[in-house]
Amino acid sequence: MGGGGGEKNSKAMMVVASLAESIKEISGLPECNNVCKRMYGNLVRRVKLLSPLFEELKDSDDESLLTDEQVAAFECLKVALDSAKTLLNYVNQGSKLYQALQRNDTRDKFQQITEKIEEALCGISYNKLEISEEVQEQIELVHAQFKRAKTPTEFADLQLDLDMEVAQKEKDPDPPALKRLSEKLHLRTINDLKKESAELHELVITSGGEPGDYFETITSLLRKMKDCVLTENPEVDSNEGEKMPIKHRSPVIPDDFRCPISLELMKDPVIVSTGQTYERSCIQKWLDAGHKTCPKTQQTLLHTALTPNYVLKSLIALWCESNGVELPKKQGSCRAKKSGSNHSDCDRTAINALLDKLANGDMEQQRAAAGELRLLAKRNADNRVCIAEAGAIPLLVELLSSSDPRTQEHAVTALLNLSINESNKGTIVNAGAIPDIVDVLKSGSMEARENAAATLFSLSVLDENKVAIGAAGAIPVLIKLLCEGTPRGKKDAATAIFNLSIYQGNKARAIKAGIIAPLMRFLKDAGGGMVDEALAIMAILASHHEGRIAIGQAEPIPILVEVIRTGSPRNRENAAAVLWSLCTGDLMQLKLAKELGAEEALHELSENGTDRAKRKAGSILELLQRMEGDQNVQSS
Ligand SMILES: *[C@@H]1O[C@H](CO)[C@@H](O)[C@H](O)[C@H]1NC(C)=O
Ligand SMILES: *[C@@H]1O[C@H](CO)[C@@H](O)[C@H](O)[C@H]1NC(C)=O
Ligand SMILES: *[C@@H]1O[C@H](CO)[C@@H](O)[C@H](O)[C@H]1NC(C)=O
Ligand SMILES: *[C@@H]1O[C@H](CO)[C@@H](O)[C@H](O)[C@H]1NC(C)=O
Ligand SMILES: *[C@@H]1O[C@H](CO)[C@@H](O)[C@H](O)[C@H]1NC(C)=O
Repeated sequence: MGGGGGEKNSKAMMVVASLAESIKEISGLPECNNVCKRMYGNLVRRVKLLSPLFEELKDSDDESLLTDEQVAAFECLKVALDSAKTLLNYVNQGSKLYQALQRNDTRDKFQQITEKIEEALCGISYNKLEISEEVQEQIELVHAQFKRAKTPTEFADLQLDLDMEVAQKEKDPDPPALKRLSEKLHLRTINDLKKESAELHELVITSGGEPGDYFETITSLLRKMKDCVLTENPEVDSNEGEKMPIKHRSPVIPDDFRCPISLELMKDPVIVSTGQTYERSCIQKWLDAGHKTCPKTQQTLLHTALTPNYVLKSLIALWCESNGVELPKKQGSCRAKKSGSNHSDCDRTAINALLDKLANGDMEQQRAAAGELRLLAKRNADNRVCIAEAGAIPLLVELLSSSDPRTQEHAVTALLNLSINESNKGTIVNAGAIPDIVDVLKSGSMEARENAAATLFSLSVLDENKVAIGAAGAIPVLIKLLCEGTPRGKKDAATAIFNLSIYQGNKARAIKAGIIAPLMRFLKDAGGGMVDEALAIMAILASHHEGRIAIGQAEPIPILVEVIRTGSPRNRENAAAVLWSLCTGDLMQLKLAKELGAEEALHELSENGTDRAKRKAGSILELLQRMEGDQNVQSS
């Protein structure tokens, strides 16, 4: 060895060694054969080509040539390769159907990582390194490859797109389409499907136990593909490819379908914190007896919450159906003898363990603990009291500024549900949450932003909070969500803005931030589902001087008259309220309304509308009469 390079060099050599190690790990990853196969293969191959450089540097005697810039570039590369490893593992192991549904997303991730690696490679000056010419040439070649790969390639697979669509939309999809899908996604055997369902389950857990829309889609796809696979090779049983004629008496129940405690087919499978699945009644009995471990793995349970294993449940149902087995009606062996288990009390030890992870854990542990708290807070009112009393709220508020987007999302969603309890609202605000929630609303994931909006709404019940939330800059960000959110996000943002605008100062903020333009767009887009919200907000803003001016400038009279003529009772009322505010301040608006035939619609409303609508319509009609009177006086 070179014998005693300085401190800097030993650090440099550590980076070099860990890079060599990362490259080795990535090179050793198994082949992947799902929809992302090509991107996966390309990335692994290119990373592998970096290997000679670092192997040679590792063996090099002269370390003094590594400058600070080189070391910094190596460190960047290390970070990029770590992300690459995570992505590759995810692609290789995750749910294939999910990836097929999310393939554009995955492609973007590959793109980002390629860019990161390329950037890091740019920072390395190869000609200053003590390496052979041969290696230098190779590295320049790889670098060029990464550079080319930066330009996104279209990830087009029309057949796959069509097949996915058919499989999702049709109740009984064309068998060839399903067959092509199962080939392409490598979901050919019952075992493949079982593995897929386990992955799907993993996905549900990591997404905080809240199966999104995709979950329904994937379960239904899985069911169709399972039917297809079963008709293709009816005699293959689910036991490791073992052949077994289906006609033979009672089929063998796959081990995975049996409860590890009772060994019977599970009817209501649930998951414990170690990830093991048991029949609900069996594990409940075990827990009620005071055990704190997972019976199968002997690990200590972090908490005693039982999560339904929907995927396994539906797989068992499918298996029963296709094997002509009747689902067990009742769980015999484990049915508790009605000892009156007391569920109303929450598990303090479990919650304390979670808080410990929130406060002292690494990022993964924090994320998992925040996810558990999110589920617990959603479940029932007792949990919400317990969690708050255990002191979770300040910790969750702190995690709102976590750099991990999922942790942030879990924390804000947990706070959302905790805030259902009135006294928790105060604790949350006192912990200084409002500015942090506004930050999540600004830059969190879409789901986090939506839940942040809902939390602000929930906190805004108290008038002093309306002031504080407005002052923290929430309103422009809510308007942004109102424009670009999902349908649910738009609704949450609209509700929050509406309630915040009860406070005058917030009306001015909303108007200044340009809310009128999007409201007008919603009003004109009858199919967009936001007409009710837009009118309600407009009605409340119209009571403010600046609001009246801004609305008037947006030329709303034709659409308002139209709503008064044909809208729902609630919308007619709000439209009349806006019209009233506009007309009292500006006779030109009143004239315009008259020209557009508002009078007849207002007459109808003044008889048949809601009470408030009747009053508003009556007042506008009076204005109209007065205007005519004036004109008559003037013209006579
Ligand atoms: C549950 O606990 C409450 C209060 O701790 C008690 O009054 C009640 O009897 C218990 N219920 C059962 C079924 O044990
Ligand atoms: C509880 O949180 C969920 C999101 O996890 C949300 O959909 C639900 O509306 C919340 N409940 C209330 C009452 O805010
Ligand atoms: C809200 O929490 C307080 C204490 O934290 C508790 O006394 C109260 O019963 C809770 N309210 C509801 C509706 O659960
Ligand atoms: C929001 O406003 C509606 C209508 O004024 C009211 O019924 C509701 O209680 C308000 N909610 C909050 C959170 O302030
Ligand atoms: C009010 O509604 C009734 C029944 O729908 C209708 O007969 C009547 O004409 C309406 N009034 C006006 C002024 O249009």
